[in-house]
Parts: sequence; structure tokens; C-alpha cells
Amino acid sequence: MLDLDHVRSQFPALETPWVLMDNAGGSVPCRQVIDRIHDFLTRCPVQLGASYQLSLDASAAVLRGRAAAAALLGATPEEVILGASSTALVQQLAAALRGGWEEGDEVIVTNVDHETNVGAWRRLERTGIVVREWKVRPETCELHPDDLAALLSERTRLVAFTHCSNIVGSITDVPACAALARAAGALTCVDAVAYAPHRRVDVRALGVDFYFASLYKVYGPHVGVMFGRLEVLLATGSINHFFVGEDELPRKFEPGGVNYELVASLVGVTDYLEGLGGQEVGAGTLDAAFERIAAHEEALVAPLLAFLSAHPAVTLVGDPSPARERRVPTVSFTVEGRAASEIPPLLDERGIAVRFGHFYAYRLIRDLGLLERDGVVRVSLVHYNSPEEVARLVEALAEVLG
Ligand SMILES: Cc1ncc(COP(=O)(O)O)c(C=O)c1O
Repeated sequence: MLDLDHVRSQFPALETPWVLMDNAGGSVPCRQVIDRIHDFLTRCPVQLGASYQLSLDASAAVLRGRAAAAALLGATPEEVILGASSTALVQQLAAALRGGWEEGDEVIVTNVDHETNVGAWRRLERTGIVVREWKVRPETCELHPDDLAALLSERTRLVAFTHCSNIVGSITDVPACAALARAAGALTCVDAVAYAPHRRVDVRALGVDFYFASLYKVYGPHVGVMFGRLEVLLATGSINHFFVGEDELPRKFEPGGVNYELVASLVGVTDYLEGLGGQEVGAGTLDAAFERIAAHEEALVAPLLAFLSAHPAVTLVGDPSPARERRVPTVSFTVEGRAASEIPPLLDERGIAVRFGHFYAYRLIRDLGLLERDGVVRVSLVHYNSPEEVARLVEALAEVLG
């Protein structure tokens, strides 16, 4: 079981009287991350790569941070590309891969993804790439592998899709979708931004080629991380300076380098999570940590889903089941006769921070006909939320919705 007092004590920002339920927007950072940023900036804030001791210390700290990011994804450090954000990383990837493609080649994007994993690929249409759209099934708002199968062709070069919608919260069957794409000779680029804060990731078990997350939603700093399968990274052209070798991984995909102090602080994320897995920090404890997180989240979200599903004025977007293998605790809904924008200010008055909008999954909200109603209200929980906070939210919603 998760020791919630211990968990909450690791997040200085949780001392606020606010109930923070906008965590899919961004989680608050754990103490270990804050300490490491401070430590880097006070102890060795110098350029990497020189021979003097401080520079060696800085290089080692950044390398440890990269290894931590790799551990979070189940990858090796050379397969991990770091950058300012997921959005920047996907745009760089699209530009790099386009170099190896021809006019008439195809990419598949979805209508449920955050625009990060759509726009970068759709933009290639201007260069002669054909874009096909894989739509969610309207009754569930979920991606189904059979619908992907129908879109794949011998010209498909890449399928871009999400592991978990940042609106619906449903978990996509990534291994099945990745296997279909691979059988058709296509690469996969999977958005794990809404998934990685909640569940253990293992890129090899998933069978993906590219897989990315934003670590400011995983209790860390504003750093984007992208796994790329080694063979594909080696075969893809560099986007760095001409003198950076094609075999220099991951440097050939990191133009301008990384933010040193933020990358160094990523060790704080794995230290924190390993601490949740058991008493000992070390191998295997990330699995145990995410087991505990998943169990806690399932119990946490159940009363909220039960309340929303039973309320006559509420339409839940997506699955009412709290089951951990089906969803993460990101819950969106609309209220009959009211715009989504009307609800969060009423919860603000009660000290509860949630949000409304399209959350950059603009195409989904448009296809659901919800743009003119200001999108959806989204409540996004993580493991540091407590059952008492959820009870407070349910009580506040009962007042606000009547
Ligand atoms: C599901 C999803 N994908 C991608 C992004 C973009 O991430 P970043 O802010 O690192 O560019 C977000 C940000 O909210 C997101 O929720």
C-alpha cells in the first residue's frame, strides 16, 4: 500500500491549501528534484566536456540524469533523446524522418491525440506526404486496433498515436497496435505524456519505435524525453551540426544540447519513485512503485466516476470503469445546459483546482461537437491526491451541479 503521508511529505508544493486536481496539465515536483536542481546550480554550474574537475562533475551529473530518464522508460541512455518539451522533440523527429521518405508515403495520425503527435506529422502534407486519420470509436472515445488495420498500406511509414488520452483517460492497447504497424513495415511514435505519470513503462515490451513523455507531469522538471529504437536512430539522418557523427547517439538528435540542471535533477524522479517501491532504493523498485500507484489511483478515482456516472445532468467522456488496466484517473465530463467554462470558477471558490477546455486535443473536442460549449471539465488526479480530497471534490460538485 502507498503510504500517503510519506508521499505528500515529499512534495513541498502540497503544503498549499489548494486541492490540486489539474495534474494532467502538470504535476508538482518532488523534493528530490528540487534539491538536485539546487545542488547542480550551487556545486558545478559549468560547461560540460572540459578536463577540469568541476566540468567532469557536471558531465557526470547530467549523465546520471539521462540514465534516470532511460530507466523510467525501460531504455538505455543512448536511446534517450532529451529536449525542452515533447512538442519540440516530435517536431524534430518529424523533420529528421522526412529526410528518408518519399512523396506519396503515408503517415497515420489519430483524432484523439494531443496536437503534439498530430500537427508535426500533418505538416508533412505540404511536402507530399499523405496523411490518414485513425478515428476513435464514438461510443467509447477509444482507439481500436481493427480500425488501424484498415488504414495501413504498403506506403505507411509511421503511425502516431497515444498510449492514453489526456481527456478520456483510456489506455490504448499499444502492443497490439505496434505489432500491426510493424507487420505493415511502419514505424510507431507513441505519446505517453498522459500515461507515464501513472503506470510503469517498458518500451521493449510495448514494441514501439518512438515513445515520449513530459517529465514535468511525472513529478519532475520541464524536460521532454523520447525513446528511439537504436536501429532506427542509427538509420535516421542527424539534425545536429554537420561535424556531429551519424553514430553519435543521442547527440545527433539533440541540437543545442540539453538543460543541464534540469536533466541532472531527473535522478530525483527515480529516487522518489524507488522510495515508493520499498525501503531499498534500487533495481526492481520502480515496478513495485507503479503497482502501488496504480492500486491507489484505482481506489481514488472510483467514487468520482460513480458520482459523475450517476448524476443526471452529467455526461462522462469515456469509460466509467475505474479499473487500472483500462484507465488512468483523468476524468472529463460535460454538464447539460452549461458551458464547461462555468464549472471551474465555482470550484475555485471552494479551493479546488481543475480546468476546462480542449486541452490541445482540439480535434477530439471538435469531433465531439464540444467546441462551442468550451470543451470539457477535466479533473486529473495523481497518486499524491487523497481520498479526502476526492470526497471534498464530490461534495463540491454535488453543490455546484445541484
Ligand atoms: C497528452 C499530451 N501530449 C503532449 C503534450 C505536450 O507536452 P509538452 O508540453 O512537453 O510539449 C501534452 C501537454 O499537455 C499532453 O498532455
